[in-house]
Amino acid sequence: PMNTNKSSALRVLVTGAAGQIAYSLVFMIASGQMFGPHQPVVLHLLDIPKMQEALNGVVMELQDAAHPLLQSVIATTDVRTAFTGIQVALLVGAFPRGPGMQRKDLLKVNVNIFREQGEALNKYASRNVKVLVVGNPANTNALTALTQAADLPPQNFSALTRLDQNRAQAMIGEKVGVNVNDVHNVIIWGNHSLTQVPDVTQAFLTQSYSQVTPVVTAVNDDKWLKESFIPQVQNRGAAVIAARKLSSAASAATAIVCHMRDWLLGTKDGEYVSMAVYSDGSYNVPKGLIYSFPVTCHNGEWSIVQGLKISDFIQDKLNQTTKELQEEKDLALSFLSEKK
Ligand code: NAD
Ligand code: LMR
Repeated sequence: PMNTNKSSALRVLVTGAAGQIAYSLVFMIASGQMFGPHQPVVLHLLDIPKMQEALNGVVMELQDAAHPLLQSVIATTDVRTAFTGIQVALLVGAFPRGPGMQRKDLLKVNVNIFREQGEALNKYASRNVKVLVVGNPANTNALTALTQAADLPPQNFSALTRLDQNRAQAMIGEKVGVNVNDVHNVIIWGNHSLTQVPDVTQAFLTQSYSQVTPVVTAVNDDKWLKESFIPQVQNRGAAVIAARKLSSAASAATAIVCHMRDWLLGTKDGEYVSMAVYSDGSYNVPKGLIYSFPVTCHNGEWSIVQGLKISDFIQDKLNQTTKELQEEKDLALSFLSEKK
């Protein structure tokens, strides 16, 4: 279990610390939203040298925000300094896709970043460091990092699909007219990409007086669920980019807080959350892929919810996202086998 000792500060690394997501995220961490109102933190902030000045500005603002839980800040462009002694690693920084770039090019650049960071985790981080990869392609970047960290448990590596879960939960709440808090156990399976599988077959609503209704019953519109809901969740990231001309940032930071808080402090009884984690072969997903599953968390450890019935419709989609992740993995491994 994570040391959430109230008096000793937790060392939390944020990479891409001069970027958009970090600009929301670091203030949420400092204010106690991620680890609770009694857990002091030391923030380790890493970005690349050309962002040093912008990073200094973030440090000034953190100081000015005067959060009592923020014990100190280490802002650096040196990987070793950034990774030394960290207990939580939020790997947000990645090379973004530019005009004319193929996904393959993006993967190649990011394999090199996450190779270096996996090595740094292995050498310098706490032996129980909990790692969340946010930078895209998040699942495969997480896999790259863990292949370089042979001394750390693979169960300590994860990738973010909580934003997809939150999007799906909010869309269902909106559709049936209930508060998002009353929507439970919406699942995201597979890759944080267009092939992700939003699945409401286990989901239910709790309204007043503990009445429980399956989401499928409440929505009562199979066509909407299959032809609107699923593609809208899958395409939401692109829709935000089209509107903002920038990718989602504040909602991503919020999802990062949800993911880490649930992992470290535990999920509520009966509540599933989605995390991309190291597959143990559950649901016939090949072992060793970083795959989003429904999980529950206790004492700083996640476990995959077992025994859920998978419809043929969903199974077909699981096969597609598995295939994509397998292809990304093969590509990443081929880059890793090349000389640095
Ligand atoms: P951004 O471009 O605003 O910031 C990224 C920062 O990372 C930049 O400051 C950059 O200099 C830094 N960086 C690049 N390489 C680095 C390295 N090797 N070490 C440390 N820092 C490095 O991007 P953003 O909007 O903050 O998004 C960050 C990433 O998160 C992107 O890959 C984005 O696609 C991804 N994302 C994922 C999700 C998800 O749900 N998984 C959601 C939103 C965004
Ligand atoms: C998102 O889901 O918003 C991010 O992964 C950004 C993107 O490229 O869609």
